[in-house]
Amino acid sequence: MKVYISKKIPEPGIENLRKAGFEISINDKGSSLSKEELTAACQEVDFLMNIGQAKLDASFFKQCSHLKGIALASVGYDHVDLAAANAAGIPISNTPHVLDEATADVAFLLMLSVSRLAFFRANQVIRGEWKDFEFTKDLGTTLQGKTLGIFGLGRIGLALARKAQAAYSMKIIYHNRHRNTEAERLVDATYVNFDDLLTQSDVISVHSNLSPETEHRFNAETFKRMKKSAIFINTARGKIHHERDLTAALSAGEIWGAGLDVTDPEPMTADNPLLTMSNVCVLPHIGSATLETRTEMVLLASNNLIAVKNGLKMPQIVNK
Ligand code: DGY
Repeated sequence: MKVYISKKIPEPGIENLRKAGFEISINDKGSSLSKEELTAACQEVDFLMNIGQAKLDASFFKQCSHLKGIALASVGYDHVDLAAANAAGIPISNTPHVLDEATADVAFLLMLSVSRLAFFRANQVIRGEWKDFEFTKDLGTTLQGKTLGIFGLGRIGLALARKAQAAYSMKIIYHNRHRNTEAERLVDATYVNFDDLLTQSDVISVHSNLSPETEHRFNAETFKRMKKSAIFINTARGKIHHERDLTAALSAGEIWGAGLDVTDPEPMTADNPLLTMSNVCVLPHIGSATLETRTEMVLLASNNLIAVKNGLKMPQIVNK
């Protein structure tokens, strides 16, 4: 059985596949493959471990319908046309749970970085602009005792809620499509409607999936409803906020700051006006980027391929 891995991965993932008897080929280009390149690379193999957010659409599944399984090394699978995968009879798996803490850490990092203007201040030092000890200029704001509004209280949102409660005694409110009473038991969180989430939160952190329902959910109208002192954080998917509207809301002082680990498109280009704002911190989609987490992700992904090879159902299948 042959597997293609679309990007270099931590060694334990390769070792796991090798031990299970797979013949392995890896993209050694040093950069992401185009859809055409990925499609071509899949022609000679039985399985794919896919890294990254490139679209696996209907035309990909039409040309790769011979694949016996695709393991995504990501928790999100909004880039995959599941109906087309189903039509081709290809099981798809993702990597839930193992990146919860790492991604929540990045949300926390952004929240703290924006509230203290740390990114902007560090850049002043780098540019040689640290001339004096400022006492009233460029002041940040505290998170202590403030209200954290979580949009999408799943496992990553829960991990952030725990950190925010432990570090800053933050009050947690959340909005989901459906109330999550299990999560409420685990952290002291209060369910609110979307409008209350907007108007009551000091920080809003996005942890939902990208879907037609959540696409551009944060837009001109919603930013206007938020507190002028509010901080907006997104570590989920860049399309959940409307970037031009966010830029306008920050310029107009409708909200206080923003921290983004995800943008639309990715990568963000260096001429983006958000990058000139003192109250904005943008990271290059590093939510799961620790050696430990990436290793766990590829172990999970490889175990899903091994399951199919052994005639079993993928444990983390997403297209049941
Ligand atoms: C995920 O796992 O979905 C991360 O966002 C990386 O794509």
